[in-house]
Amino acid sequence: MCGIVGYVGHRQALDVVVEALRRMEYRGYDSSGVAVLDGSGGLAIEKRAGRLANLEAALDEDGRDSFKGTAGMGHTRWATHGRPTDRNAHPHRDVEQRIAVVHNGIIENFGPLRAELEDAGVDLLSDTDTEVTVHLVARAYAEGDTAGDFEASALKVLRRLEGAFTLLFTHADHPGTIIAARRSTPLVVGVGTDEMFLGSDVAAFIEHTREAIELGQDNVVIITADDYRILDFDGEPVEGRPFHIDWDLEAAEKGGHDFFMLKEIEEQPLAVADTLRGHFTNGRIVLDEQRLTDQDLRDIDKVFVVACGSAYHSGLVAKYAIEHWARLPVEVELASEFRYRDPVLDRSTLVVAISQSGETADTLEAVRHAREQKARVLAVCNTNGSQIPRESDAVLYTRAGPEIGVASTKAFLAQVAANYLVGLALAQARGTKYPDEVAREFAELAAMPELIEKLIGRAESVRELARDMASKSTILFLGRHVGYPVALEGALKLKELAYIHAEGFAAGELKHGPIALIEDELPVIVVMPSPKGRAVLHSKMLSNIREIQARGARTIVIAEEGDETVKPFADHLIEIPASPTLLQPLLSTVPLQIFAAQVAQTRGYDVDKPRNLAKSVTVE
Ligand code: F6R
Repeated sequence: MCGIVGYVGHRQALDVVVEALRRMEYRGYDSSGVAVLDGSGGLAIEKRAGRLANLEAALDEDGRDSFKGTAGMGHTRWATHGRPTDRNAHPHRDVEQRIAVVHNGIIENFGPLRAELEDAGVDLLSDTDTEVTVHLVARAYAEGDTAGDFEASALKVLRRLEGAFTLLFTHADHPGTIIAARRSTPLVVGVGTDEMFLGSDVAAFIEHTREAIELGQDNVVIITADDYRILDFDGEPVEGRPFHIDWDLEAAEKGGHDFFMLKEIEEQPLAVADTLRGHFTNGRIVLDEQRLTDQDLRDIDKVFVVACGSAYHSGLVAKYAIEHWARLPVEVELASEFRYRDPVLDRSTLVVAISQSGETADTLEAVRHAREQKARVLAVCNTNGSQIPRESDAVLYTRAGPEIGVASTKAFLAQVAANYLVGLALAQARGTKYPDEVAREFAELAAMPELIEKLIGRAESVRELARDMASKSTILFLGRHVGYPVALEGALKLKELAYIHAEGFAAGELKHGPIALIEDELPVIVVMPSPKGRAVLHSKMLSNIREIQARGARTIVIAEEGDETVKPFADHLIEIPASPTLLQPLLSTVPLQIFAAQVAQTRGYDVDKPRNLAKSVTVE
């Protein structure tokens, strides 16, 4: 997730673009950059790793005079391909330095496109997937049937791209024009008087205009100071949807919500889809960085998963997936306990370290301890360039984008999705799944974002229930199999956001003690497994619900649509779409996040900044 802005008009573009980038920084802050066209053939670019302040300092140092011009664009990056360095910062430009591009998303087929350019002698300067696009446009502009035609050259290249992208192209020979395109990532047009704006969202231009145009999928928009045209990738004209923006600036940054966390919950289908994107190519699961050979992976005979908090809960889900698919023994450890326990590790142990921030001290120390014992380390991380992936032998990035709400939601779901990929990668390396079985499992995973989207669309009944429960002092959560980590995560969300005593239990453990807690009207949230999965799991869970209902508990049951057997025992039913049992956490977690957020809001708490907590815990 990156922030993108574009401007063509009558003001100094640099000022408009830098101000807009400030509004977009919540979308990424690994690096930022600007490109300004001076109107007489000059294209000035400045870009810097780190926060926007670094870019501004560089502009001050180098002098802003060369950035005079009324058309420009900017980018604030959340790194996916390539480290967060100056070199990898956007904009990228072609060899002749006439064309510039900024990009949000993932170009899935950048590998073959890069090889094609390298074969043609093009020197690529960055490690990004983005840079190929600008060289391809330059080559299309230089020769063939699109020579000299900026629009046709851009369209020709767009038709070759796979993946998800918002791209903005400028050309020094066409200084009053920006060509932009979107597929599966956001882009909005702001329509001013004698000025046009582009932004990843309306916060980019809301100070200047409240009239905007929503673009459809696979749309191209060409803006000049006083006009915009919308086309499909074949160059056929299409209509955009004009709308008026009523939000104030603060609400605009939060997508109209009161809190970032609520927006982040809604971003989960995209976070999961982006995390999966590009990781199954040519019939194989691929990681982002792998400094391990296939033989190293085959030699693994034991897995430890280490993480903290929500990331630890995602690791508990990983255990079920890895054991089931790759037939390897897996232990899941709280990172803070791991190294003080003298764990038995050697060269054939794989330690999977899961961390959104990549900086959590407990997890980092666990990684260091594992490496001292010669174990191999695979990081699952949301932050490119952070310490944990840097110290690991292999990395799989979750692509949830920056998470501003302190409580993890979209990063958690992306971790769960990434952990499934780890399970499949190990199964593939060890041969415990045939290639066609891996392909089938991946296809089922790839279908999940659509189901998550469906679920989010029905959140209102969960919110209503949460308002009803907001005055309770204790809420318990029960789950079995992969529903158990979901119960733990649901309880953690409620504790940290709503400051309500909440506990998650493995349902089978109930009779060994916790059942003593059940009393009249105590709310118990139960995560039901799929009735189409292992029958024993489902029937055992039904018995557990009966046991607690008989003792007066108020049962809130999360169950698959069409699961009739559960209805008599559910005082409240939250239905989720049907899915394979193993993948159900990607769905069953979502209502629990919405529930916790709404309870906290009803109690009047700041959902984004729960008391006593920090987003990144860099002390042990
Ligand atoms: C809970 C939460 C925390 C983090 C934990 C690990 O909502 O956000 O429990 O999951 O502090 O953080 P990372 O993933 O950055 O290592």
